Amino acid sequence: MNPLSTTWSINGETRILGVIGDPVAHSLSPAMHNLALEAAGLNWRYLPFHIKAEDLPQAVRGLAAAGVVGFNATIPHKEALVPLMHSLDETAQLIGAVNTVSMDESGRMTGYNTDGYGFIAALAENGVPAVAGMRVVVLGAGGASRAVLVALLQGGVKELVVANRTVSRAEAVLAPLKARFPGTTCRVVPLGMEDLPLAGCDLLVNTTSIGLYGVGAEDPFAMEHLVAALGDHAAVMDAVYAPGGTALIRAAKERGLKYADGLAMLIHQGARAYTHWTGRDMPIDRVRTHLRAMMEQA
Ligand code: ATR
Repeated sequence: MNPLSTTWSINGETRILGVIGDPVAHSLSPAMHNLALEAAGLNWRYLPFHIKAEDLPQAVRGLAAAGVVGFNATIPHKEALVPLMHSLDETAQLIGAVNTVSMDESGRMTGYNTDGYGFIAALAENGVPAVAGMRVVVLGAGGASRAVLVALLQGGVKELVVANRTVSRAEAVLAPLKARFPGTTCRVVPLGMEDLPLAGCDLLVNTTSIGLYGVGAEDPFAMEHLVAALGDHAAVMDAVYAPGGTALIRAAKERGLKYADGLAMLIHQGARAYTHWTGRDMPIDRVRTHLRAMMEQA
């Protein structure tokens, strides 16, 4: 993108989108959305806003007062945005977190959560068109996991096993969802090889950061060992992204399993938010090429 482009200059008509977070400087969302906005010839810009947790209510009121069209939220604001919304869509309500906000002209805010959509679309793009009827193992029970769990339940999975270091946290996350989706068998297990039903698993999803740091090949819980225990038909998804692939993605690639990574999920959650704001489709292929190149250079 040429920052001096005269065909894409800022003027009195320019509309503003953005992302709020702390930190926010690492976010790929400005690059993704500005590429799409410019490609569509829209006189809109997408900016990063570094907002501290204690400033959130004031910042959100300020964005509304300034006529910002909409914004994304990242760590640590997704849960705290929920009570600040005028209305919430059902998925954001179930997840208990908002990652996308649309404002109308009077400053009324609607909260959405497009992370689960991004997860399902990333799988679809990589050879897993539907999750209905699947037996799924999810590692982790934090914020990213909640969006994944809701998407899997909404998609009609048959069996859901959530493995977490802190078992009580996973139980607390699953309890209200179990009641809402009685058609899926759900259970919680501790995070350990012996408790994971990997042989009969159709889809293994990681939402923890354990594949990024400090787990060596000698560790009995190394991602390579999990992938080795899967059947040949299984697919793998890592909600976390690392240039060159996380340990889980590298192992899935080596075994020739279907896989989708966190960058695909990020792009598709962004594409859904973009459509909420602009009514247009994001040019996914261009955005993917651009972001992958950016990540590999970083
Ligand atoms: P996010 O928003 O990225 O999901 P989070 O809400 O902090 O982040 O959740 C992190 C997840 O990774 C949790 O499931 C956490 O397990 P606990 O609930 O037991 O804390 C998991 N996690 C993080 N570091 C871990 C580690 N070293 N070993 C095992 N699990 C870990």
